[in-house]
Amino acid sequence: MNSNRYAAEIPKIGFGTYGRLGEAGIASILTALETGYRHLDTAQTYGSEPCVGEAVRRSALHRDEVFITTKISTDNLAEGKLVPSLRRSLDDIGVDRVDMCLIHWPAPNGQIPLATYMHQLVETQSLGLTRLIGVSNFTIALLQEAKKLIGEGLIAANQIELNPLFLNNKIARYCLENDILVTCYQPIAQGRVSGHPVLAPIARRHDATEEQIAIAYELAKGYAAIPTSGQAARIRSNFAATALRLTPQELAAIDGILPGARSINPDWGPAWD
Ligand SMILES: NC(=O)c1ccc[n+]([C@@H]2O[C@H](COP(=O)([O-])OP(=O)(O)OC[C@H]3O[C@@H](n4cnc5c(N)ncnc54)[C@H](OP(=O)(O)O)[C@@H]3O)[C@@H](O)[C@H]2O)c1
Repeated sequence: MNSNRYAAEIPKIGFGTYGRLGEAGIASILTALETGYRHLDTAQTYGSEPCVGEAVRRSALHRDEVFITTKISTDNLAEGKLVPSLRRSLDDIGVDRVDMCLIHWPAPNGQIPLATYMHQLVETQSLGLTRLIGVSNFTIALLQEAKKLIGEGLIAANQIELNPLFLNNKIARYCLENDILVTCYQPIAQGRVSGHPVLAPIARRHDATEEQIAIAYELAKGYAAIPTSGQAARIRSNFAATALRLTPQELAAIDGILPGARSINPDWGPAWD
C-alpha cells in the first residue's frame, strides 16, 4: 500500500474534465460533485478550467471541500511564462489558488531545460498559488533529474497513463518507492476494458462493470484514478467502484494481464521507461 505523505491530502478518486465543456460540461462536473467526487482534474489545454470553477460555485460545497488540480501547458514552460500562466488559470477557474499544479508534459523533444520549468513550478508553490506541485508524463530519468534540481519530497504526484490494459509497471513502482502518488489517466482505457477476458469474470462475481473493476484495481494498488464521462449514470457507477474490494487473487490476475500499447504517445514525448 502506498505510504505517500500526500496520500491523505489528495482524494484518490477524481473526476477528469477533458471534453467537459460549456453548459453540458458544467452539468457533468456538478453531477460528479453531487455524486461524491472531491477531486477535479483540469488543464490549461482542456478549456475546462472555467467549467470546473463554475461547477464548484454552483454546488453546495465550500471551495475547501474540493481538491482542484490543473496542469501547465508545454506552451508555458519557458522562462518567465509559467507563473503568469498559472495566475491566468486561477482567474479562469475563479480561485485564489489550486490544490495541485502539475507540469502537463516535459518540454517537447527536451527543448527547454528541465531546470527552467521545475524552478518556476516551485515558485508557484512558494507564492501560494498552489498547495502541492507535481508532474505528468514524467519518466524515471526525469523524476530523478527533477529531484536533483529541486530537492527531495516536493513532487506530490506523477499523472500517467495507467489502466489494466497498460499497467505501466516500471514507472508506477518507482513512484510508489519514492513517495510520489501515481494518478492514473485513462483509468478505464476509454471504455476498452469492457468485455476483457480477465476483467469480465471478476466483474460478474462482484455484480459490477469492467470499468468499476479497473478503478477498484487502481485504488487497491494505492494509485489515484480520474475517470471522466459525460453521462450521469456512468459518472455515478465509476464513483461506486470506490466501494468494491478485490481479493488478492483477483488483483494478481489483473497484475498478470499482458500489457497492450500506450495510447497517448506523441512523437515529441520523452523516451518512456
Ligand atoms: N496528463 C495527461 O496527459 C492526460 C491525458 C489524458 C487524460 N488525462 C486526464 O484523465 C482523465 C481521464 O482520461 P480519459 O478521459 O482520456 O479516459 P477515461 O476516463 O479512461 O475514459 C473516458 C471515456 O470512456 C467513456 N466512459 C466513461 N465511463 C464509462 C463507463 N462506465 N463505461 C463505458 N465507457 C465509459 C467516456 O464516454 P462517455 O462520456 O460517453 O461516458 C469517455 O469516452 C481526463 O479527463 C483528463 O482529466 C490526462
